[in-house]
Amino acid sequence: MGSLLPLFLLLLLAASYQPTGSRRRRWGTRTQGTGGRSPAPSETSAPFWVRISPEFKAVRPGDSLWLNCSSSCPLPEGFSLRTVLPRGETLSGPRWVSYQLLDVRAWSSDVQCFVTCAGETREATARITAYKQPRSVILEPPVLVGDEYTLRCHVTHVFPVGFLVVTLRRGGQVIYSESLERYTSVDLANVTMTHTLHARPSDFGQPVTCHAHLNLDGLVVLSSSAPMTLTAFAWSPASKALASTSIAVFVVIHLVVGALYLRKCLLMQSRA
Ligand SMILES: *[C@@H]1O[C@H](CO)[C@@H](O)[C@H](O)[C@H]1NC(C)=O
Ligand SMILES: *[C@@H]1O[C@H](CO)[C@@H](O)[C@H](O)[C@H]1NC(C)=O
Repeated sequence: MGSLLPLFLLLLLAASYQPTGSRRRRWGTRTQGTGGRSPAPSETSAPFWVRISPEFKAVRPGDSLWLNCSSSCPLPEGFSLRTVLPRGETLSGPRWVSYQLLDVRAWSSDVQCFVTCAGETREATARITAYKQPRSVILEPPVLVGDEYTLRCHVTHVFPVGFLVVTLRRGGQVIYSESLERYTSVDLANVTMTHTLHARPSDFGQPVTCHAHLNLDGLVVLSSSAPMTLTAFAWSPASKALASTSIAVFVVIHLVVGALYLRKCLLMQSRA
């Protein structure tokens, strides 16, 4: 190692050598620009960028993905990743590192990549969103009992259920809307919404539809059911008296979350 020192010094000298003309010009601009104080050498404060690709990615819950973090730094001292998501494999090249993230279940999470270059650390951020458009939105044929219709809508295999809004429309007009934000399940869910509607004579022949909205931080995913027709029925004097008040009297949300429900059952069994 000691025998390499003279060579090292020689290399240093060679690197600092510049033709006198350019050297003088450099001194000139330095004194002009900074009033005599010499700034940090430009070699160590050279700007460099850090990029993460892709910057936005929407996946299905449980999927894995790769994020490539790259930099313009000629000799990066280190790459690191900050994420709450489980990590998988890593691949790397001279100025990039590719990270695999596994089993993405957080509906939205930021992943940060840090690169250190000549003692300075910079970062880039990617946002990962996990969602699943409902496999199906099905409105059952409306059932008339007495003077009330029962409307039942099934939304299957949807994620994240906490960002779901289920809406019922009659002839294009919203008759009921329910947000499921109180549900924080991390699994795919089946949702059944049951709504009771007071029948009015004008409802006859009207189409009813059910709509599932996922509202994900600007990304809106909409699925709708096939329309169902409110069927004819014979009016009794009693139902006529109620006909003017078309209000929601009864709403039931029924949520089935496979894995979560199973876990709760097992927990209760083990406690018993
Ligand atoms: C990562 O990005 C760098 C720079 O764009 C590229 O050269 C490299 O091939 C990428 N690696 C993978 C695994 O995609
Ligand atoms: C949700 O509904 C689908 C289709 O009806 C069914 O195959 C699946 O098992 C249900 N999942 C749960 C968690 O109940």
